[in-house]
Amino acid sequence: MSHYRKHKHHHTRAPSDGSPPPRVAVIAGLRTPFVRSNGDFKDLSAVDLGALLVNELVARSGLPLSEFDALIFGQVVPSQLSSLIAREVVLRSELPRTLPAHTTSRACATSVQAATEAADQILLGHADTVIAGGAESLSDAPIFASRKLAQALVNASRARSLPERIRAFAGLSLKDVAPVSPALTEPTTGLTMGESAQKMAWENGISREAQDRYALESQRKAADAWASGKFAEEVMAVDVPPRYLKTSAVDNNVRRDTTYDALAALKPVFDRRYGTITAGNSSPLNDGAAAVILMSEGRAQELGVKPLGFLRAYAYAATDPGDQLLQGPAYAAPMALERAGLTLGDMDVVEMHEAFAAQVLSNLQAFASKKFAEERLGRPDPLGEVDPARLNPNGGSIPLGHPFGATGARMITQALRELARRKGRHGLLTICAAGGLGAAVVLDGPEA
Ligand SMILES: CC(C)(COP(=O)(O)OP(=O)(O)OC[C@H]1O[C@@H](n2cnc3c(N)ncnc32)[C@H](O)[C@@H]1OP(=O)(O)O)[C@@H](O)C(=O)NCCC(=O)NCCS
Repeated sequence: MSHYRKHKHHHTRAPSDGSPPPRVAVIAGLRTPFVRSNGDFKDLSAVDLGALLVNELVARSGLPLSEFDALIFGQVVPSQLSSLIAREVVLRSELPRTLPAHTTSRACATSVQAATEAADQILLGHADTVIAGGAESLSDAPIFASRKLAQALVNASRARSLPERIRAFAGLSLKDVAPVSPALTEPTTGLTMGESAQKMAWENGISREAQDRYALESQRKAADAWASGKFAEEVMAVDVPPRYLKTSAVDNNVRRDTTYDALAALKPVFDRRYGTITAGNSSPLNDGAAAVILMSEGRAQELGVKPLGFLRAYAYAATDPGDQLLQGPAYAAPMALERAGLTLGDMDVVEMHEAFAAQVLSNLQAFASKKFAEERLGRPDPLGEVDPARLNPNGGSIPLGHPFGATGARMITQALRELARRKGRHGLLTICAAGGLGAAVVLDGPEA
């Protein structure tokens, strides 16, 4: 594509003498179960979920409340009733009311954004210990009045007489009165996430069979991880309001009984006639929260806290949403690896957010493509092939779920705990996000 501007080579942060870049310790991570929207968490808001999670995370860390210097939190589809979720989480939790907090957003990479902002603050010396995370309640997504209805309501409120007030509503059609819910649509292209992923499947030649096989494998890995107790320490249980007679303790989108034939029989959803993307090979709509605690290496040593691992380097990149919307990781990963002074081959674990199987397979294809490297990245060599045994070893967002604001923090904890189990040294984490954004983080295991 001739109009496509090659990505610039930035100066890398990795010191040229080969020593690793300065890094930040991740000392704890936790999430709620990720549950299907309008289900177990339908009476909890994102603030409620965030506060429940942060209280439990802080309690399990054993750190005194005075240890925390800041909280950074995000939500992708915010509630209009509490627009600054980070501060509300603090005020609703047991943390001191004097703890500063701010809300951040980078669409589906929001809690990775929170974590890298926290790491920057720590490396700058502005903070020693920061909580970073995010929450999402798609059960509590805002419902809007149409623009015309909103204008009529404003005019009616200013009216001086009843007839004038009634006239304010004249000319409204039934359509204008219907509530509007937020759409997962790219404003610049008018295409939904699913339609954009479908376009990627076609352009990259990703077959229905490849997508379904990928989804099946991810479901199997997630079911195995739950069955073998791997998630026990990273997922808290939540008592379900309003009656609190039930406890939600596991992700309820994992389907142990999924078969290839069942997946192959599902109807395509984003192009009902010719499409290949189905409910089975897409991430579902969920509610949940996740967070990590980041600490300076020096402070962790001083306190004798054993880190889960370290955040070593990161990068964000973007591509034109009208091109391949969810291909951001293929642009961000090479930059993050370069900043880390490492290669894809050094990665013992690769955690790639699964918005759709078609998007994961498209990104893996771009990682391995010399043409993509040359034409899109201006690099002579591709990043390389990802060893399937290292990719999302305990399942990804298709089976586990994807409460947008929480996914990044889930992935950091999941990647680090898997690195420790494998006695691995390094991990790569990537997330694609709305707007054509891509996020990539290089993590070090506890022994690296
Ligand atoms: C894809 C999507 C539209 C599906 O929504 P849905 O129709 O509510 O999905 P459901 O879970 O009800 O699944 C539909 C059917 O497929 C079946 N199904 C889903 N996954 C399955 C699996 N792994 N194996 C077997 N059957 C499965 C369900 O049982 C259901 O069958 P039923 O209709 O007989 O009950 C929705 O999840 C979505 O919009 N996902 C994308 C979200 C998105 O864009 N995220 C942003 C990405 S960054």
